[in-house]
Amino acid sequence: MRKFIEGLPKSYFNYPMPVTVVGIQKGETRNLIPLVWHVQLSFDPPLYGVSISPKRFSHNLLLEAEEFSVNFLPFEMVPLIARLGSVSGRDVDKIKEFNVQVEPARKIDGFILKDAYVSFECQLIEHTAFQGDHTFFVGLVVATHYETEFFDENTVIDVKAVKPTLYIGKYRYLTVDPESLKDTSK
Ligand SMILES: Cc1cc2nc3c(=O)[nH]c(=O)nc-3n(C[C@H](O)[C@H](O)[C@H](O)COP(=O)(O)O)c2cc1C
Repeated sequence: MRKFIEGLPKSYFNYPMPVTVVGIQKGETRNLIPLVWHVQLSFDPPLYGVSISPKRFSHNLLLEAEEFSVNFLPFEMVPLIARLGSVSGRDVDKIKEFNVQVEPARKIDGFILKDAYVSFECQLIEHTAFQGDHTFFVGLVVATHYETEFFDENTVIDVKAVKPTLYIGKYRYLTVDPESLKDTSK
């Protein structure tokens, strides 16, 4: 049976989505927010966009900080990701409470996650809500940190060496099956 609906209800039709964890620091306040609504927008200059609801503590913190990091954690870290997404930085210092290992960023006044296999340091250059219920923040990527053993010479991820984290909705996560890999250049 094929169903037709006017518009799009709140749904997860277009998932799975890769999960990222955004780190924000303003003065003494540091926070982490897991996101699935994020995307690279340009190679040159390198631009990265993240979509955050004004309901989140991270929203105004990012407006104030004007800098953020984008961190990709391996599948083994799903329990931490789920915890980071279950509480607000308004109520909890997530870094202390969940004993998150962080290190200072190099080009922004912020931090990255030690367990991330790749992290971007971003400076906020624009934000807009497009009349929607999330604000889209665009960052200029000023630095990248990555674990060389998890990427080939073209920076393509080696999914046998590291498991990326995907989300399908309703608290459910999965990773990719390396056996499904098809290299269309061969
Ligand atoms: C896997 C996952 C993906 C999420 N994606 C988004 C997202 O793209 N945008 C958003 O605003 N919130 C998203 N959330 C919800 C926030 O992470 C969650 O509300 C968090 O607790 C907000 O923290 P804060 O109040 O400290 O900012 C997601 C949560 C999870 C677990």
